[in-house]
Parts: sequence; C-alpha cells; structure tokens
Amino acid sequence: MEFKPDFIEKLKTAKSLLFFTGAGISAESGIPTFRGDEGLWKKFKPEELANFNAFISNPDMVWEWYQYRRKIINEAKPNAGHFAIKELENFYDVDVVTQNVDNLHGRAGSKNIYELHGNIERNYCIDCKTFYNGNFDFESKVPKCKNCGGLIRPDVVWFGEALPPEAFIKADKKAEQCDICFIVGTSAIVYPAAYIPITAKKNGAYLVEINIQPTEITNQVDYSIVGKAGEILPEILNKVKSFTGGFMAERKEKN
Ligand code: APR
Repeated sequence: MEFKPDFIEKLKTAKSLLFFTGAGISAESGIPTFRGDEGLWKKFKPEELANFNAFISNPDMVWEWYQYRRKIINEAKPNAGHFAIKELENFYDVDVVTQNVDNLHGRAGSKNIYELHGNIERNYCIDCKTFYNGNFDFESKVPKCKNCGGLIRPDVVWFGEALPPEAFIKADKKAEQCDICFIVGTSAIVYPAAYIPITAKKNGAYLVEINIQPTEITNQVDYSIVGKAGEILPEILNKVKSFTGGFMAERKEKN
C-alpha cells in the first residue's frame, strides 16, 4: 500500500506514537461496534442498559447484558491490528488510549494502555467497592458482595458517569507529548474521551485516522486512511520495518 509522503517522513522522525482506539479496532475480532449497522445501540437501548439508574432499577437485566457481552469478548482474540500496535513498540514509544472495555490490547501484549471506559473483566461492589476480577458463571444473576452483600457491577464507565481520573489525566498528558496520534476505529463523538486527539492536535501532533468511513473528526486530521484497522495497521508496521539506515540504527538501541 502506498502512503502519503509527509506521513512517511513523520514515521521516520517520530519518537512517540499514541493510538486512540474505539470499537472498530475490535470489529475484526468479532466484537460488535456500538453505532455500526450491526451495532449494539441499534439493538439495545443504552439508557436501559448502560447507566447506573437502569442497573439499580433492574440489576439482573443489566448484569445479564454484560454477561452476554463478556461471552462474546471471551471467545474473541486480538487481531492483526492489535498485534501491529504491540510490535510498533520495537521502534517507538507507544501509548494506547482506548475506549474499549474488551482488554484486547492487553491480551495482545501492549505495554502502555490507558482504559478510559474501564475493563469488562473487572467488577466491583457498588457499596464497599471490593473488586472481583475475572468471570462469573455466565448464567449467574447479579452477584452479591461477600463482604457487605452489595450488588456487584462491571468496572465499565456508564453514560453520565465520570471517566477514571487517573487514566484520563495520564492519557491527556501523553496526547500533549505524542508526535503522531492515530485515531483508529472510533466515531470520535463520545466525550470527554474524544478530546484526546484534539489535545494531540493542539500540541502539534500529526493526526492519522484509520476508519472504514469518514467520521466527525475526519476534517481535522492530517491524513485519513479509509480501510480496516486489521489490514492498515500491519501495512504501516511493514512500512516501518522497510525503513533502513539511520532510522533502524537509532531504533536498534531502543531494544
Ligand atoms: N476498522 C476500522 N474502523 C472500523 C472498523 C474496522 N474494521 N469497523 C468499524 N469501524 C469504525 C466505524 O466506521 C465507526 O466509525 O469504527 C467506529 C465505531 O464507532 P462506535 O460504534 O461509535 O464505537 P466507539 O467510537 O468506540 O464508541 C465510543 O461509545 O457507546 C459508547 O462507551 C461506548 O466506548 C464506547 C463509546
């Protein structure tokens, strides 16, 4: 695949890459996106399932829905897009700022991950905040806390809830410092997460979007690559590997 010349130049001079990812990067792993044609929000109502009041008024229904999602995620595997981001760590300082709760970047082995919307493999008691990691039996009704009997909920950010401050503050700092910010598989409309690429742009980063279609942020990026993340990211990795001379010599020290 031929890439834009100024993008190639940026790849040759950059030291730090930030990947801001959304549901689209996991689509090729068989995990439905939210707003795509087969998206979750086409079938289910977020106001009935992904907010605290809905959980309190009908905990079993909300729990059951997350068990349904956990089953899909458990059966899924990271794809070539996740692994390409991981492998780029051999050449750059790589940070992954993800909106995904599926932990596929973690399972692909990426080192620096900032989960802005939590992680579906973690759970905690809504009263005493005791954590329960790992899966509950998929058929189970909403479990109760062994310590205080409180309801246990998935450690994901629901609509109307604040993002985990530590992850967001660190991610924002990384966005200020990155040389290239890749926006991969996200509609970039859910805030405050969607501020991350804007912070990167404000601080001089080169913005690259990888998506199967244009999005809200397309007119603000330096390079829009239309295609599947699982196909484009490995191409970018191969391009980097094809660089020789000074670029490689420099990066060799990195390893
Ligand atoms: N490769 C690249 N992009 C893809 C692919 C693919 N294979 N498949 C789909 N996409 C793109 C779609 O075109 C769309 O722009 O991924 C994007 C997915 O967008 P959404 O479904 O809106 O998901 P996301 O942006 O991650 O949603 C943000 O909203 O519902 C909340 O908390 C939830 O974290 C989520 C947040």
